[in-house]
Amino acid sequence: MDKFAKSLIKEAAGRIRSSFSSELVVESKSAANDLVTNIDKETEQFFIKQIKKEFPDQRILGEEGFGDEISHLNGYIWILDPIDGTMNFIHQKKNFAISLGIYKDGVGLLGYIYNVMDDDLISATLGEGAFFNDIRIPLLTDGLLGQAIIGINTSWVLPNKYLEHEGIVKLLQKVRGTRSYGSAAIEIGYVVTGRLDAYMSMRLSPWDIAGGMVIANEVGAIVTTLSNHPINLLVQNTFIVARPVVHSEILDEYVRVK
Ligand code: IPD
Ligand code: CA
Ligand code: CA
Ligand code: CA
Repeated sequence: MDKFAKSLIKEAAGRIRSSFSSELVVESKSAANDLVTNIDKETEQFFIKQIKKEFPDQRILGEEGFGDEISHLNGYIWILDPIDGTMNFIHQKKNFAISLGIYKDGVGLLGYIYNVMDDDLISATLGEGAFFNDIRIPLLTDGLLGQAIIGINTSWVLPNKYLEHEGIVKLLQKVRGTRSYGSAAIEIGYVVTGRLDAYMSMRLSPWDIAGGMVIANEVGAIVTTLSNHPINLLVQNTFIVARPVVHSEILDEYVRVK
């Protein structure tokens, strides 16, 4: 299954890269900045066709809705974001990823984050560790918040309904720096490889995080909601992935969910 998933990801990525030579069809979904392209849709359809051919009984949850309606996590489920970072895909032509997690009865078995333009694959198998291309990723060590670089986006500095503002300001004063890459999967990938110390979001969907959660588990990164609860892969969640200690310090002392 791992070999099949990896070759599918590489093939899909090749198709995405070659799409740059033809014109993109861009549409808005729920809001003007919630974009989708024909390539997001075609990539999801490509995955679904190949997966169903190989594993006809397994279910697929994909962002663009071409997969199955998922109301429970029993059995095998492939949770797919065909392009995570669609805005980057359209505007920057880089910094977007394919994100895939394969779960059985709610347990993450295989996880993948593939940075399409960098040709970097982060992968993990339950109980067998995580890899950056072919190199094993070491376990994350504890970090100090005062030396941390955290991934956040502009929604953290705007008034919002999720978090108390004062704690966020203190957090931003405390950390060494902030970064915003525009792809949740890439940002989770940066945390698991130690290039960011935490990444947080006020709202992510199962397909943004399913692959990354399997990988995070294998390297000792802590993943929870911002209320410090386990993630439910059937709904949208607030989200934090971080090194040990950095995770608890952020949630204990700075982030107050309204
Ligand atoms: C989005 C990206 C973005 C995050 C959004 C996601 P999409 O995914 O991961 O970084 O802030 O919440 O929806 O729509 O590009 O697949
Ligand atoms: Ca989207
Ligand atoms: Ca996404
Ligand atoms: Ca997407």
